[in-house]
Amino acid sequence: MNTKTNNLSFVDLHTHCLPGMDDGAKDCNMSIQMLQTLKKQGVRKAFLTPHYYPQRESLSDFLQRRSDSYRVLSSFQGMADSPEAFLGAEIYLTQGLCEVDLRPLCLGDTKLLLLELPRQPYHPWILEELRNLTYALNIIPVLAHIERYQAYYHSRDFEELLSFEDLILQFNSGALQSHENCRFLYSLSEEGYPMLIGSDTHNMSTRMPSFDKALPVLTKKRRGRELFANIQETWANLGL
Ligand SMILES: [Fe+2]
Repeated sequence: MNTKTNNLSFVDLHTHCLPGMDDGAKDCNMSIQMLQTLKKQGVRKAFLTPHYYPQRESLSDFLQRRSDSYRVLSSFQGMADSPEAFLGAEIYLTQGLCEVDLRPLCLGDTKLLLLELPRQPYHPWILEELRNLTYALNIIPVLAHIERYQAYYHSRDFEELLSFEDLILQFNSGALQSHENCRFLYSLSEEGYPMLIGSDTHNMSTRMPSFDKALPVLTKKRRGRELFANIQETWANLGL
């Protein structure tokens, strides 16, 4: 085994590569381009996490669409040069979500549920819902692109939200291009929160895979290397 390559490989927790599911890949050609680019950038496993909006679509309809899309993609030429792929979803958090059995949307065979918080100021129902989901469904909540909420939350909101210690925090690889985001993510990591990285890639133009740009930040700077060590430890703890 090539240890060096292995150390520098990634698990992409958050992608929109499933064709025709959402505002991500439009067709199989685009899906394959995105997946092959991820592979070239060192991604060994990719979770396919199309948006799921519980207020717009029943879970059974979503699961049917997801399995249809995956079946078409799986038979498409080029999948062999892609990272190992697993099904999942990015679930928009709404009040009362815990009343739906969302376990079929866990990432692969893990207990991880990738949750997108509303783009609005923090409200205590968010923490209550995360707690309810965790205990009702016996899942581990992963908060998608945590850096995005700097625009909506005060530091005391983050303190309240992150007081719930069962959370895992996912950030987008592209976020590492901003010093402000880096400082925010390094601080979270240094405070001991388990972190995971995802490309959140949607296409090959405006939101293309960007692990190539994240890698130097995660390997050359001390705080970046410490963040990468946190991510690698989280992968190991989760068996990813
Ligand atoms: Fe996303």
